[in-house]
Amino acid sequence: MENTIRDLDVKGKKVFLRVDFNVPLKEGRVADDTKIRAALPTISYLLEGGAALIVASHLGRPKGQVKEELRMDPVARALEGHLGRKVKKTEAFSGEPLKKEADALKPGEVLLVENIRFHPGEEKNDPDFSRELASLADYFVNDAFATAHRAHASTVGVGEYLPAVAGFLMEKELQYLLGVLKDPQRPLVAIVGGAKVADKIELLKNLLARVDTLLIGGGMANTFLKASGFDLGASLLEEDKVALARELIALAREKGIPLVLPKDLVAAKELKEGQETQVVPADGLPRGYMALDIGPKTVEDFAGYIQKAGTVIWNGPLGAFEVAPFDRGTAAVAREVAASPAVSIIGGGDVVAAIHKAGLAEQMTHISTGGGATLELLEGRELPGVAVITGGGGNK
Ligand code: 3PG
Repeated sequence: MENTIRDLDVKGKKVFLRVDFNVPLKEGRVADDTKIRAALPTISYLLEGGAALIVASHLGRPKGQVKEELRMDPVARALEGHLGRKVKKTEAFSGEPLKKEADALKPGEVLLVENIRFHPGEEKNDPDFSRELASLADYFVNDAFATAHRAHASTVGVGEYLPAVAGFLMEKELQYLLGVLKDPQRPLVAIVGGAKVADKIELLKNLLARVDTLLIGGGMANTFLKASGFDLGASLLEEDKVALARELIALAREKGIPLVLPKDLVAAKELKEGQETQVVPADGLPRGYMALDIGPKTVEDFAGYIQKAGTVIWNGPLGAFEVAPFDRGTAAVAREVAASPAVSIIGGGDVVAAIHKAGLAEQMTHISTGGGATLELLEGRELPGVAVITGGGGNK
């Protein structure tokens, strides 16, 4: 397991804390502060322990250039509001001006560095920039789970030169997400949705090696239904992945794992709000209609597995949930997961938005803050931002 901030004595020390404050902005304000709130336990713990905190994050994808609309000022204001103490925000993201501000920092003070991706060395994991960041502090704490799949200077490089440990958010994410892969309460039921099989091939393969049941919905179910011999009419599907879907169905059969596809579908002529819809059996899509959500029989079918599950892991929405009424299947399954006594782990991305929209977030055991990072972890990959806190670099 990784080293954590519990292993550090930070009194009087400077800590370079990488967080993921890549939050949506609207009209100059933070529109969703979930990621900021998720990092507060680490920040508070370090401050109470007497550390001086140099906090860094990226915001958006400025690609090594200064972009006015991606400055961290709204994030600093939001963080200040949560902490109830002053957060100094730097204009600089490197060089002497940053060093000066970091040097002047006192225990209990927080410095939020300007968008770290303004520096061209960040995404290149440039050793000079990494060394420069390391020179600001005594310890590196990585709490940016959602950026752990990126090997950048502030997520990985800096850990080559400083003792590197995990923050509480990183620890919690790994505990739940790796726990579900290694030692889940069984039966382990995975729900996988989303538009494309192509995006989830590695995930499906990795899950098939571990789960007791795999429930499939969303646009990707169309490709599986086609592979099972159904006519999907005008539905979105990946012709070039039908053979692969067939292989995955065969693999599940070989392993004796139920791979459960939709029994019925909500169909419409177009993906547009307020369309006339029909609930049809999966093998009975009318001409000119496309499948846009799972139907009520499928929800019932999925619910049977969810109610008996020890653990549910869910990645990807089950219909075109951004457009009403095609959000109903995802919301109905979310209610089933919320009501079930199973450990429920929501594997990041679009499902998180659907669960928040349905007002069910409080009832889930763990909602990951990661998107790409969560997917890669569930695919069974080692994330560079995790490797750095499990014995690499400055820990050696
Ligand atoms: C995310 O929002 O998934 C993370 O902050 C990573 O952002 P990125 O995809 O721009 O690296």
